[in-house]
Amino acid sequence: MRRPFIAGNWKMNLNLASARELIAGLRAKLSPHLAYDVCVSPPFPYLFPVAKAIDGSAIKLGAQNLSTDEKGAFTGEVSALMLKDAGCTYVIIGHSERRHTIGPKDAVGRVCGEDDDMVNRKTKAALAAGLIPIVCVGETLGQRDAGQTEDVLTQQVRGGLTGLTTEQVAGLVVAYEPVWAIGTGRNATPQQAAEAHVHIRKRLASAHTAKAADAVRILYGGSVKASNAAELTASPDVDGALVGGASLVADDFLGIMMGCVTAKRLK
Ligand code: PGA
Repeated sequence: MRRPFIAGNWKMNLNLASARELIAGLRAKLSPHLAYDVCVSPPFPYLFPVAKAIDGSAIKLGAQNLSTDEKGAFTGEVSALMLKDAGCTYVIIGHSERRHTIGPKDAVGRVCGEDDDMVNRKTKAALAAGLIPIVCVGETLGQRDAGQTEDVLTQQVRGGLTGLTTEQVAGLVVAYEPVWAIGTGRNATPQQAAEAHVHIRKRLASAHTAKAADAVRILYGGSVKASNAAELTASPDVDGALVGGASLVADDFLGIMMGCVTAKRLK
């Protein structure tokens, strides 16, 4: 069985004091030995202090982005090896807040314009440094309404993972995050999530072998809360959740873990 995984994405939230408080709140209630994986993904400046705060706990560290390049004159960029040095196990790649180029510019900054080729280069950079990529894919509302969801997912999975070995694919985490569900309070239905996950796994199987596809953990992301975590993670193809807003409050994030524990019948 794939090991369930609950990943937190803090985005550009919290400060050092509230980050430490959040970790203390999680540690107070989490056993150091869990039947599932957990990570938090703070902004870059907080990686080191958070790495220290989670030391000895079951919580692992993730970053929210990385450079495509190993080193050099790239002002403001952070390399995979630097993230590794800072204590990261995971790195989120191709989040929709970094992909979008079109539509009104809003508070989540639809300006980065990362495409599948960049996602692919970042994924390779992460793997080369020994980080586990969490590769995000997902359709916009317009694409869903136009019946393009499966095509979009196929394209993003193919483009993002091209050129990877089957072993590399087997170690990946993919996050299905319908863009219309992120930060909107409107989650996908468990059935919509399950259908998308099945489709992603099929595409992984046809491009990278059934064995590799079977090993990939596919997380659902988009308005996951303690109250809907169990139903959203109940499908056998949903291996956990990538959580934004609700990962900023210890009890909410813990509630999501408990929901997943119930759904997967973990001890
Ligand atoms: P949300 O964000 O849980 O706040 O909807 C999810 C994400 O962006 O990963």
